[in-house]
Amino acid sequence: MVAEFEDAWSAAHDLPYSLVTNSGTAALHSAFYGIGLGPGDEVLCPSYTFFATSASLFQLGALPVLADCRSDGSFDPEAAAGLVTERTKAVVITHMWGLPCDMDVIVAFAEEHGLALVEDCSHAHGATYRGRPVGTFGAAAAWSLQTQKLVAAGEGGVLATRSREVYDRAQLLGHFNKRAMKEMDPQGPLYPYSVTGLGLKYRAHPLGVAFAVGQIAELPSWIKGKQAFAEEIAGLFTRIEGITPLTLSTPERTSAHYALLFDVDPDRVPGGRDRLVAACNAEGLDDVDIPKATSPLHTLHLFRHPMSPVTTYDRACVRTEFPVAERLAARTFKISVPCAPAGFEEEDERYLAAVRAVVDKVAAHLASGAHKESG
Ligand SMILES: Cc1ncc(COP(=O)(O)O)c(C=O)c1O
Repeated sequence: MVAEFEDAWSAAHDLPYSLVTNSGTAALHSAFYGIGLGPGDEVLCPSYTFFATSASLFQLGALPVLADCRSDGSFDPEAAAGLVTERTKAVVITHMWGLPCDMDVIVAFAEEHGLALVEDCSHAHGATYRGRPVGTFGAAAAWSLQTQKLVAAGEGGVLATRSREVYDRAQLLGHFNKRAMKEMDPQGPLYPYSVTGLGLKYRAHPLGVAFAVGQIAELPSWIKGKQAFAEEIAGLFTRIEGITPLTLSTPERTSAHYALLFDVDPDRVPGGRDRLVAACNAEGLDDVDIPKATSPLHTLHLFRHPMSPVTTYDRACVRTEFPVAERLAARTFKISVPCAPAGFEEEDERYLAAVRAVVDKVAAHLASGAHKESG
């Protein structure tokens, strides 16, 4: 099952090597080890992302160096440029909420500074930039296959790379014994370690992978379906003045629409984001949500006071202020963009009708000024 998944994943991304792991976190850890990171190395990473994008760097003694983002939540190379030092070895980016980052600029940035690029595609299975799948632009890429993700194994992850060397090292971190012994170059310097690996076990449960494997072929049609669906949902919310969708697809960037992110202007929407989300939730639209687990990393203790099991740090990850990430955290809400499998299209219609009813009611309430009396 695992081999079947890996072959299908490699084929879908036109990459020679895929490695299934038991979480996206494990895939990222394996990718970071795979590209050769170790104690003292610095890695540029976004402040606006889920913490697992960079947290496993602490396990290697490497240090995430946080950078601010663009207003759509994507990595901002301009903000990162001033943070490059002689210790900087890599850059990790996240295609947030499924919308690909501006890969032309990011690849040029990584090349200019001689940095290995790692893509965290955990929100973006099947998303494309100028027609090319995300996960194919750098030295390695990682996807989570956790329950909520677009390709889901319950728990799981997958790494992909075009480098044999990265693949061998990644494999060594969590896939020892038979597989590593069979696949690693017997003449290579790491081969003697293949029987034990390096002390971790990152193999996935094959049953979860069996659930996920059939989803790979469905992905392109799901992504296609989600485009129209996301436009519809955006059309509903933008009826309320002061609400702006941030992560719709563009001609170059086709979002996987893991979620759709909206900005709420507190000067135009009375009560701002929190009030609007509470109103939608009160009407039963629980899918409207404030993304709390993605609070900017510079607000989290681990990143303010970095700690590693393998080294001590003499400097913090946080070197600048992050107004764009903070603004996103303070003003945005997200909604999932479901897309029913073929044959169940009426589910989509029912979902849209429910969203329409809630937005109509909330919009009418805001327009009437009733919120002022009702408090
Ligand atoms: C952007 C991002 N990166 C990494 C991860 C970690 O994946 P996992 O939960 O499978 O370890 C997640 C999980 O939600 C994520 O959203």
